Amino acid sequence: MISIRDVERHRLAVSGSTTKAHKAQLGQYFTPASVASFMASLFSGLESDYVSLLDAGAGNGILTAAFLERWLAESGSESYLSATSFEIDPAVKIHLERTIAAYGERAEYCNRSLTSEIVEGDFIEEACHLILTSEDGIFTHAILNPPYKKIRSDSVHREQLRIAGIETVNLYAAFVALSILLLRPDGQIVAIIPRSFCNGPYYLPFRRLLLEETAIKQIHLFTARDRAFKDDGVLQENVIVHLVKGESFDRVTLSTSSDGEFSDLMTRSVLTSGIIRPDDPEYFIRIPDSKSSTNLQALERANQSLSSLGLEVSTGPVVDFRLKEYLRHDMTEGCVPLLYPGHFEHHRLNWPIAGWRKPNAIVRASATERWLYPRGCYVVVRRFSSKEERRRIVASVVLPDELPSGAVGFENHLNVFHKERSGLPESLAFGLMAYLNSSPVDGYFREFNGHTQVNATDLRSLPYPPRQVLTAIGERVRNDGPLDDTTIDSIVGNYL
Ligand SMILES: C[S@@+](CC[C@H](N)C(=O)[O-])C[C@H]1O[C@@H](n2cnc3c(N)ncnc32)[C@H](O)[C@@H]1O
Repeated sequence: MISIRDVERHRLAVSGSTTKAHKAQLGQYFTPASVASFMASLFSGLESDYVSLLDAGAGNGILTAAFLERWLAESGSESYLSATSFEIDPAVKIHLERTIAAYGERAEYCNRSLTSEIVEGDFIEEACHLILTSEDGIFTHAILNPPYKKIRSDSVHREQLRIAGIETVNLYAAFVALSILLLRPDGQIVAIIPRSFCNGPYYLPFRRLLLEETAIKQIHLFTARDRAFKDDGVLQENVIVHLVKGESFDRVTLSTSSDGEFSDLMTRSVLTSGIIRPDDPEYFIRIPDSKSSTNLQALERANQSLSSLGLEVSTGPVVDFRLKEYLRHDMTEGCVPLLYPGHFEHHRLNWPIAGWRKPNAIVRASATERWLYPRGCYVVVRRFSSKEERRRIVASVVLPDELPSGAVGFENHLNVFHKERSGLPESLAFGLMAYLNSSPVDGYFREFNGHTQVNATDLRSLPYPPRQVLTAIGERVRNDGPLDDTTIDSIVGNYL
C-alpha cells in the first residue's frame, strides 16, 4: 500500500530530473513530506461524511497524499472524499495520477469512498471559469503550495483574474484568492506561500479579499529562510497560513520552527487585533515575535502618524537609467548632487565619492527639474538592506550645508522624508533619524515586513512620537559624532 514516504521518494526523483529553468518557469518547488504532513495536521472537519478537497498546482500530489493519510486515519468507514487536483505540466501529472490512483486502492481497501478528478490545465483559467459559472462554493478543504511567479500587467492571467474580481501581481496570491472563492462557507485553506503578501501596496487588494472572506486561524513562520525547501534551494521567507471562510476569530495561533523538520516547533496564541490592526487601511498582516510586547511598550509614546507631524515620505524620484544623459561623475557647472544609498555612512552623508562607479551629480535642466528637491535638511532611508544588516531600517540625515547647490536629487533606491517637498527643521530631522534607527522600531517593522525591502508605504504606516519628543531627541544627538546602535537605543529609550 502507498504511503507518503513513497510520494516523497517520487518527489525527489521528479525534482532531481527537472532542469532549473523548467522549475523556475512553472514555479516547481515541491513540498517535503514533513511539511506536507504538518500542513494537513492543521485542518479540522476530516471526520465529516463528505469532504471535497482542492489541490491547485498539485505537482506529484504530495499535499493531497498528506491530507488523505489523515482522512484515512480519522474518517468513518462510510465516508466519502472527492479530490480535485489541477496541474499544468503533463510530465508532472503522470506522477500525480500514480499517487492518486494508489490512494484510491488504499481507500477501497479501507472501505472508504474516494473519487478523484485530475485536471491537466491552467488553474487560473479553469478556476475563473468555475467561479463565474457556479453559485456556491465547491470545496470544503483546499491544500496548496502554489507556483510563485510575477503576473505581468498585460497578461491573459491578469485579465482573467480581473474578470473574476481578483487583482494581484503574483501567481501564488492568485491561486490562494481563487481557492478562497471556490470554498464553501466554513471551508478551510492551508497554504504555504511567501511572506511578501503581508505588507506593501501591490498585495493590498489580495489582503483585503483574504481578510474580508476568511479569518486567519494559524500562521506558521519558518525562521530560517533557506531551510523549508532545502532540496530545492528556495530562498524565501515562507509562511503556512490556515484560513477559514466566513469565520471570525478573536485569537490567532502563531507557530514557528526554524525549518521543515519542526523539531523546535513553538506555538502561542495572540489576539487577532495584534496581527491585523482594526483601523489599518493597508490591512497589513503583522507577525509579532515574542519580544513584541516590549516593542509596543517601548513605542508607547509613539502615538502620532507621520501626516499628523506634517511630514511625508516618498520614494526617491530620480530613476537613473531614464535620465542617463544628465548623469555626471563629478559636480561640474550646472549640476546638483545626486544621492544614492552608497553615499551614506554611519547615518550621515558621504558625498561626493571620488572615482566611484556611480554618478555623484545630475545636470539641473528643464527635463530634470521636476525630479529634484530644493536644498534643505532631509532624512533618507534605504529601500533595500542586505540580509546581514542588523537593522532593516537604515536612516541618515542630509544637511543643507553639505549640498553645494540650490537643489538635490534623491535616487530611486532611497526613501525621502520631507515637508511638502522641502526640508525639515534640523533637530526634528536628527530626532527622526535616531528614532527610525532604534531597535523597538526595527522590531515593530519586522512584524509586518518579512523581506528586506523598505517601502514608503511601510514607513508611512509606522507610529511616530510627537514632534516635540523627536525634536528633543534631535537636540540631544545632533552634535554627537557617528552614532552606533547602542548609543541610539539608549538615547531614544530615555525619551520614549
Ligand atoms: C510550487 S509547486 C508545488 C507542487 C505541489 N503542490 C507540492 O506541494 O509539492 C507548483 C506546481 O504548480 C504547477 N503549476 C504552475 N503553474 C500552474 C498553472 N497555471 N496551473 C496549474 N498548475 C500550475 C507547477 O507545474 C508545479 O507542479
